[in-house]
Amino acid sequence: MFEVRNLFFRMVILLLLTEAFSACTNEWNQYSILPLKPVEYLPEGTIESEDAFVFGRALFFDKRLSRDSSVSCAVCHKPFLAFSDGLDLSDGVFDRKSKRNSPSIINMRYSPVFMFDANIPTLEMQALSPVQDHNEMDMTMKEIMERIHKDSLYITLSQKVYGKKVEPYTITRALAAYQRKLVSLNSPFDQYYYGKNPKAISLDAKKGFLLFKDKFNCVSCHPLPMFTNYKPENNGLSVINGDYGRYRSTGDSSDFGKFKVPSLRNIGITSPYMHDGRFKTLEEVIQHYREGGEATKYKSELIKSLKISPQEEKQLIKFLESLQDLDYFVNF
Ligand code: HEC
Ligand code: HEC
Repeated sequence: MFEVRNLFFRMVILLLLTEAFSACTNEWNQYSILPLKPVEYLPEGTIESEDAFVFGRALFFDKRLSRDSSVSCAVCHKPFLAFSDGLDLSDGVFDRKSKRNSPSIINMRYSPVFMFDANIPTLEMQALSPVQDHNEMDMTMKEIMERIHKDSLYITLSQKVYGKKVEPYTITRALAAYQRKLVSLNSPFDQYYYGKNPKAISLDAKKGFLLFKDKFNCVSCHPLPMFTNYKPENNGLSVINGDYGRYRSTGDSSDFGKFKVPSLRNIGITSPYMHDGRFKTLEEVIQHYREGGEATKYKSELIKSLKISPQEEKQLIKFLESLQDLDYFVNF
């Protein structure tokens, strides 16, 4: 009798624990089917309220942040292109061109470091770079303050969220708060791989994933779940326009031609590819890897020529396209 009662109680406790567990994970599950939340990088004192988001969103779309009032962050990071812009180099102020290709800025809350040079440690600090870049927004924080410090929406939100007047501190924090809400982890591939739904992607895409993971070992630099190791790597691109990658920031020859590995999530809509947008299509990207990159001096040993049949190329592309998620649209 005691044995049976014991078993009964154990089952009740297990049930309660399961309930409690699912209650804890509910909030996370709204965003993704991934079993584990990827590591997040939130500086101390980060405020993630709805007001912080609204404040940041208004700034993100505000063209007054650029010298000729023609460029907002959203001009180069367009929501409907997974926050990239579809150009090889972007359109900055006075028809100037940015020096690099505008990357998707989705899932930034999971990035430990920013920029192709992997040299900026926080999203808050990152905002100063486009603002001050001669070819992008060409402003100083002081000049931005002069333009927007009397804006009543900004005054109210800055006070409400941070208890401060509109100043660089609140501007950079609000911009980061907006970007950290742009989460996209619910692609058909996620439904298949983490959600165990065999119908979520095609057979070709499944075969493409196995090629990506096993035969071609792309995961050595583009590991799951974010499809990037966030490290600077040299994938064998020749130097164009004197862009030596991270070497530019460190002056260390081992950083020659290294660029932060991009996430491949939403890759189907973020063409053109690479730091200078030199490849227009995924076929061109695969051609690059098939040839083992170019014969550059500091190329990673992981980049070797690959035997890829036309059918395998098709499967690889189907897999890459299965990383397309439109859930992030609910946020912007
Ligand atoms: C004129 C185009 C342009 C504008 C305007 C612009 N960006 Fe960018 N953004 C880029 C380019 C190009 C890069 C890559 C630069 C590099 O790595 O050297 C980039 C990189 C970034 C990154 C780093 C992404 C990563 O994975 O490391 C973030 C975050 C970002 N931008 C946010 C912003 C915010 C916030 C604004 C507005 C304050 C903004 N950008 C304005 C073109 C632009
Ligand atoms: C040595 C590390 C490394 C390996 C291995 C590697 N990549 Fe990359 N990959 C990179 C880097 C670094 C970049 C960005 C280079 C740049 O921007 O100039 C990149 C860029 C890409 C891009 C373009 C992303 C964008 O947004 O522009 C795609 C697509 C891609 N890789 C797919 C693959 C595939 C498929 C494989 C396997 C055949 C692979 N990669 C293997 C490091 C690697």
